Amino acid sequence: MGLQIIKYGSPVLRKKSGEVIENDNALLMAENLFKSLKKEGGLGLAGPQLGLLKRIFVIDTSPLAAEDTTITKIEKAIVNPEIVWFSKEKDYYNEGCLSIPGIFEDVLRPETIEVSYYDLNFSRIEERLYGIKARIFQHEFDHLNGILFIDRLSSLQRKLLSGKLNKIKKLGAG
Ligand code: CO
Repeated sequence: MGLQIIKYGSPVLRKKSGEVIENDNALLMAENLFKSLKKEGGLGLAGPQLGLLKRIFVIDTSPLAAEDTTITKIEKAIVNPEIVWFSKEKDYYNEGCLSIPGIFEDVLRPETIEVSYYDLNFSRIEERLYGIKARIFQHEFDHLNGILFIDRLSSLQRKLLSGKLNKIKKLGAG
């Protein structure tokens, strides 16, 4: 596991990650994820983006909280997450991804979700998330299943991006 963020085009980003088990050093994994995330200034980073095919991601809303006081600052590591419920109501949010630099698109996703996961002490947590927290959770959760936000765009949106994506792909594979 490195600290370098893996870019679109690498097959690692398309693999399904395995469960984190107690013998894994989840604390170290989370530290590395936070380190890379803070360096790049993103909102979330998942294991596969550092070449670690484990079901772990970190969330850090501090870049948003700095701009918008209605957003609470949260910094946490999420281990072995599940999304147990999605609201029927959906909304758009402009997403980006540190593995797909320079691309930002409006993505339609459920507004509210109910999730369960483990924290770094292996305590099980269940909660209902909405707004930006639900958004980041869903984006990062997708990474654990080899899904990227561009997969959730309309075919027209994707078509318009294909040139840019191919460019990133060539760099990522190289
Ligand atoms: Co991402």
